Amino acid sequence: MGDVKPVLIAPSILASDFGRLAEEVRSAEAAGADWLHLDVMDGHFVDNISFGPAFVQAAHAVATVPVDVHLMISQPDHFFPRFTAMARNITVHVEAEHDVSRTLAAIREAGCTAGLAISPPTEIEAVRPFLREVDLVLVMTVNPGYGGQPFIPEMLAKVEQLAAWREESGLDFHIEVDGGINANTAVVCREAGANVLVAGSSVFGAADRAAAVMELRQPV
Ligand code: DX5
Ligand code: ZN
Repeated sequence: MGDVKPVLIAPSILASDFGRLAEEVRSAEAAGADWLHLDVMDGHFVDNISFGPAFVQAAHAVATVPVDVHLMISQPDHFFPRFTAMARNITVHVEAEHDVSRTLAAIREAGCTAGLAISPPTEIEAVRPFLREVDLVLVMTVNPGYGGQPFIPEMLAKVEQLAAWREESGLDFHIEVDGGINANTAVVCREAGANVLVAGSSVFGAADRAAAVMELRQPV
């Protein structure tokens, strides 16, 4: 059985003011961020284009906490090498066009930890063959593409199943949830077994970002 995982709060830069990126990174860190979450979208895997390696590098240059890159792109094996110098963790989608095992191994060989993400319509069984090959599983709790969407409660069953498989198998991967995470939904995600909480709107949209991060970490 793996150790009890620390709770890690990962504000999503997607919800920040890109015109003040350096200040927003510093603000998230001052508010208590453990990781910074950066959502890369290619306009093909999802119906949105966010930013690419140059932008992630600009955030990384200011950041003092680990950079968690979430690739919502169709060809992760082609593009992930452009992020390895700036990311601590790189997460790819199980639904993307690639040999999942090969991509995960290549991410680790490049010196990063490897995450595998699953979108709401995909059954959790899709990630099961790869659980020995990952450092993190990201359960999307909204449909990927945009910030500010409502949490989909049916995704909690996926988190519970992953936690059960992890315990049965003696594995040690993080379980990350992403989309619609706020002080209320953080509680049920934690109870289901998630330990990494991505939060965009609920942190960057808060008048008091430190209070928002604290509420995610220690719900009142
Ligand atoms: C959505 C992204 C999320 C997004 C979360 O496709 O993967 O990381 O930034 O934003 P909120 O917390 O606003 O739902
Ligand atoms: Zn994300």
